[in-house]
Amino acid sequence: MAATDRDDPSRDRLVSGAAQAEDGGDAALRPRTFDAFVGQRLACENLRVFVQAARGRGDAMDHVLLHGPPGLGKTTLAQIIARELGVGFRATAGPMIAKAGDLAAILTNLERGDVLFIDEIHRLNPAIEEVLYPAMEDFQLDLIIGEGPAARSVRIDLKPFTLVGATTRSGLLTTPLRDRFGIPVRLTFYEPEDLEAIVRRGAEMLGLALTADGAAEIARRARGTPRVAGRLLRRVRDFAAVAGRATVDRVATDAALRRLEVDARGLDAMDRRYLECLVRHYGGGPVGVETIAAALAEARDTLEEVIEPFLIQQGLIQRTPRGRMVSESGYRHLGLTPPPRPAATQYDLLGGQDGDDETDRRPKTPNGDAEEEGPDS
Ligand SMILES: Nc1ncnc2c1ncn2[C@@H]1O[C@H](COP(=O)(O)OP(=O)(O)O)[C@@H](O)[C@H]1O
Ligand SMILES: [Mg+2]
Repeated sequence: MAATDRDDPSRDRLVSGAAQAEDGGDAALRPRTFDAFVGQRLACENLRVFVQAARGRGDAMDHVLLHGPPGLGKTTLAQIIARELGVGFRATAGPMIAKAGDLAAILTNLERGDVLFIDEIHRLNPAIEEVLYPAMEDFQLDLIIGEGPAARSVRIDLKPFTLVGATTRSGLLTTPLRDRFGIPVRLTFYEPEDLEAIVRRGAEMLGLALTADGAAEIARRARGTPRVAGRLLRRVRDFAAVAGRATVDRVATDAALRRLEVDARGLDAMDRRYLECLVRHYGGGPVGVETIAAALAEARDTLEEVIEPFLIQQGLIQRTPRGRMVSESGYRHLGLTPPPRPAATQYDLLGGQDGDDETDRRPKTPNGDAEEEGPDS
């Protein structure tokens, strides 16, 4: 899984949903209660009920799995769950837990009912996952102490706790782990109105006078992602401050975002490079993701986690069994005329399996797509 290691250049893209060092200012914008959390209505309503029920019973809440693209509010929701449950919050991440002993130390230090947040839970080492199963199911820890003939296993009782796992790739979770979460929650890209509300609230908190159409413009270009909205907002504020503007309207916003190379739909230079690569070198596809990754000198995981979800959601590309294809609106977005599709393409979409260089690790759903969103998608 070395390819997911977090040093690829795209991680510093302005429109990347992934957290960046500069996002420190984020914390101030983080909503702290369900009431302040805009959007994801269904997920929030359900979580509210489960929180209330757990509080009523005086029990630990069932384990929650939050999945969805980066920057949609997984960490934020985990914190809100703990706060609204009125319990302690302890956070770690899959790659940070190197040994079973590390996990044991964390688990034995939890108080009754606490929330343990494990970010990037799909990157948990399999041996550690094994330790997690009985902990999640029976609040018990089975540890092997010592080595060789002197080794013995000890069982430790844990206080009941709630595990909140977050992942951008639920398809990479093992089935036994996924099955142990009683409450799976899928986060989806935000509606423009919700993002607009988030931008307006953020501007208020930053003390920035932003007009309604300015807020709408930022929301439109934030690729459905609150983290991106917050980042664009801070950059627009910087341009406004340097230009000495008291209020920021649509024209000022547009000028700032244009200089940042974020286009009207929120695509940046990298997204356009992806689309152009498909059109210019592969006749618009279908072409396998490995080929695209090689052509763009990007990690496959970066394409699948960061770039493609938004392009697919926007209908600019399609994921077919034979690889990625630029859609008609993808061509139009580049200012090109889409080629007439031969009838044979229809067959491709329905499941021609040959000629594919995709070596997908994940199970295939019945329609042949790599399974990304879990069974509820
Ligand atoms: N529903 C929301 N309303 C307002 N701001 C949000 C919302 N969801 C996320 N954010 C903002 O977006 C940023 C990224 O959220 P985060 O929870 O860290 O995302 P994830 O963990 O899914 O990558 C946070 O700093 C927060 O300020
Ligand atoms: Mg997070």
